[in-house]
Amino acid sequence: MSLRALLEGLPIPIVQAPMVGAQDERMAIAVSEAGGLGSLGAGGLAPSDIEPAAGAVRAATAAPFAVNLQMAPALKPTAAELEAAMARLAPWYARFGETPPPTPNTYSHEFEAQLDAVVRAAPPIASFIFGVLQRADVERLQAAGSYVVGTANTVAEARAWAAAGADGVCAQGFEAGGHHGYFLGDVEASSVGTMALLATTVAALDIPVIAAGGIMDGRGVAAALALGASAVQMGSAFLLADEATNGPTWQAALRSAAEDATRLTRAFSGRYARGLENRFMRELKDADVPAYPIQNRLTQPLRAAANRAGDPEAISLWAGQAATLARPGAAGDLVKRWWAEARAASQALAARTAKT
Ligand SMILES: Cc1cc2nc3c(=O)[nH]c(=O)nc-3n(C[C@H](O)[C@H](O)[C@H](O)COP(=O)(O)O)c2cc1C
Repeated sequence: MSLRALLEGLPIPIVQAPMVGAQDERMAIAVSEAGGLGSLGAGGLAPSDIEPAAGAVRAATAAPFAVNLQMAPALKPTAAELEAAMARLAPWYARFGETPPPTPNTYSHEFEAQLDAVVRAAPPIASFIFGVLQRADVERLQAAGSYVVGTANTVAEARAWAAAGADGVCAQGFEAGGHHGYFLGDVEASSVGTMALLATTVAALDIPVIAAGGIMDGRGVAAALALGASAVQMGSAFLLADEATNGPTWQAALRSAAEDATRLTRAFSGRYARGLENRFMRELKDADVPAYPIQNRLTQPLRAAANRAGDPEAISLWAGQAATLARPGAAGDLVKRWWAEARAASQALAARTAKT
């Protein structure tokens, strides 16, 4: 079977986006069991935890699922860079009565070791963000039995994944919540809206395209399928789901947010991501913070402290541009509801176009 056949043959062609910090195995299982495609955001997992997590999904559902990794570069700050970064964060740690953490030994899990673990876990789909794999690694995953999907913010990035032998791409538009995947150009040159990115990527490539960014309900699902997507990846739409692990402070901020409240920021992690604007984003200047994953690691204990204190002003409140349309409910029920809405939307459109 091809990846296109798998995606287009899903009972519900909705992919639950991998979301580090907002979901675990439970959401992936619920979505795959409902007929969509659940994903496990494994970017934050130690290599040794990846196989057990993937195994838990496999044990709970016979349906396909995806495991996702973030391709974090192995960066370390200079002593001066570290000192400056910690000085900027010190008042924030003080605000929560926390002493700043000691100098970390590592700034992210080692990507190569995570990749080896995914090869061993051999999930039906292995997806990636923040870069492009070497062809040999794509082939290693495929030989293990996984389809490979790469995230692209531009057609050039989608072509790079196709050239590396990927089975499909996830076209992630500028609207998307959370981190953006750009890796060839800077964020400005890589900011393409979902509608334009999807249509141009489908036209440029022969491999299936999964659309992501700003899709919140069945109308959006129908629109993306009409533009040629083989499936639709939704993240923010699951942030109020029963299985979401993002916590009450983030969820309350989302419930009370104004429609236009999201911004792209690198203040939390050193890489541009979209979230609800808060004081931390306003006060830390994007240009000052060290690169991902250094800043991500340095702010982790701070974000955890803010979460414990219930203070939304120092939590990375990742959310897409249409996130205020998120609705509560069991993830499996949400997916079924969106598919019913998508069918109703396409029938209404068919009736309307038939009249003219
Ligand atoms: C809270 C959150 C965490 C995310 N984490 C990841 C991740 O770990 N890996 C990844 O490939 N994409 C991640 N994304 C991006 C999604 O895959 C997807 O591109 C995005 O959610 C689509 O836009 P939407 O939020 O408007 O639906 C995340 C998104 C959110 C909202």
